[in-house]
Amino acid sequence: MDALSLAGKVAVVTGGTSGIGREICLRFARAGAQVVAAGRRNDAGKSVVAEIEASGGSARFVETDVTDPGQVARLIGSAEEDYGQVSVLVSAAGVMLIGSAPETSVDAWRTTIETDLSGPFYLAKYGIPALLRAGGGTMVVVASELGLVGAREAAAYCAAKGGLVNMVRALAVDHAPQGVRINCLCPGPIDTPLLQGWFAAGADPSDRERQQVAPVPLGRLGRVEEIAEAALFLASDASSYFAGSIVVADGGATAWYGL
Ligand code: NAI
Repeated sequence: MDALSLAGKVAVVTGGTSGIGREICLRFARAGAQVVAAGRRNDAGKSVVAEIEASGGSARFVETDVTDPGQVARLIGSAEEDYGQVSVLVSAAGVMLIGSAPETSVDAWRTTIETDLSGPFYLAKYGIPALLRAGGGTMVVVASELGLVGAREAAAYCAAKGGLVNMVRALAVDHAPQGVRINCLCPGPIDTPLLQGWFAAGADPSDRERQQVAPVPLGRLGRVEEIAEAALFLASDASSYFAGSIVVADGGATAWYGL
């Protein structure tokens, strides 16, 4: 039996329409999971489902705004209705709004906290009972290296991701005894539309990219495939003794003081 197999599992993935979340949907489907991709954009959601179905997998898209608890509850309900159970949860939806505290509008602060911290909380609140109904399961929360260290012009993002990292520990402590393993994945800079948007917003995008890569000992951006592999490990039986772990995949960036 392949410990990385997700055969017979039903995985709900938020942020499944782009970047890391999209790649997790594709990878989990290849590992045998039935995938419920959640996101705000119907066209992008349909394209993930089409790609999974074209390679023989099974998937659904449920339009969901993770900042709305009612929509997250409905997402879990519809996954259970369609597939009979939910055994894996992945929280990958997120936004990165840039700014020091004085530069961050109250709206940007609220959007960041609502999306990057409350969104995963709603997924835990409504999703964990479904994992328990399924007799156990796993949850993978995509936080960030910026949940572990500070960074310039990222006050709201660092606050939300730092809170998220410690929320995962609390969730794990509550639910590990019930057969639900919850772990956190902290990527470094990964080449996705989110990061490319941040580069493009700079006066000199290639200079921004160089600055982003400079503190990474591996000397390059990460790829979504590399993060999806780590997510698969945490979602599957291969990580059977992991609970409340903070798994960092950042090319060595947070290991380095920079000298
Ligand atoms: P992305 O922008 O490609 O994908 C994020 C997805 O979340 C998009 O589909 C977006 O529509 C969705 N989303 C945003 N707000 C939402 C909401 N209210 N409801 C439902 N969906 C919503 O970004 P990427 O890079 O794939 O990011 C995925 C996760 O990884 C995020 O949580 C991000 O903070 C985290 N991350 C990304 C890193 C990077 O360098 N790309 C580094 C560390 C963490």
